Amino acid sequence: MTTDFLLAWMHHLCFLGMAAALAMQWALLSPSRPLPLAALGRTDACYGSLAGLILAIGAARVAWGPKGMDFYLDNPIFWAKIGVFLAVGAVSAFPTINYLRWRQQARHTPDFHPAATDIVKVRTAIKIQAAGWAALPILAAAMARGLGHS
Ligand code: HEM
Repeated sequence: MTTDFLLAWMHHLCFLGMAAALAMQWALLSPSRPLPLAALGRTDACYGSLAGLILAIGAARVAWGPKGMDFYLDNPIFWAKIGVFLAVGAVSAFPTINYLRWRQQARHTPDFHPAATDIVKVRTAIKIQAAGWAALPILAAAMARGLGHS
């Protein structure tokens, strides 16, 4: 019971932390002022670490949760949740690659500023991730209540 409680609590903390990190990236990515590249890199690293952590905690909840593994593994809504999670993860690679590229360019050209079109593309990737984020708690709540079991 205590393990389940602690895992559930940490799952929610990771979820909130990731949402905050995504919102922070959005706020930092303004095309109209110099980009704080170091802060963007740190925020993205934080986002990625929390994604790894929520995956590990989620897997632990599947393995050790009181409902038993089959409750989740036999439910298509669980797999839809995993699919959305992986899709959001794949989209999140796009901002990461750009932040790394921009930081590398800024090392060679101190007054470097990314093209406005590139910033817009990264902001679009963040919007797509936010849409996935909106779907995840819905799928989670449905899955937790056994919807999807025939
Ligand atoms: C960013 C990604 C994720 C978000 C936003 C998220 C969100 C949530 C939320 C809000 C709940 C509570 C549902 C409720 O009790 O109504 C939950 C429960 C749960 N999540 Fe996640 N989750 C994520 C990733 C994962 C992953 C990757 C896994 C599995 C590998 C996972 C496995 C679980 C399990 C097993 C529960 C417990 C459901 C129950 O009480 O029966 N989650 N999740």
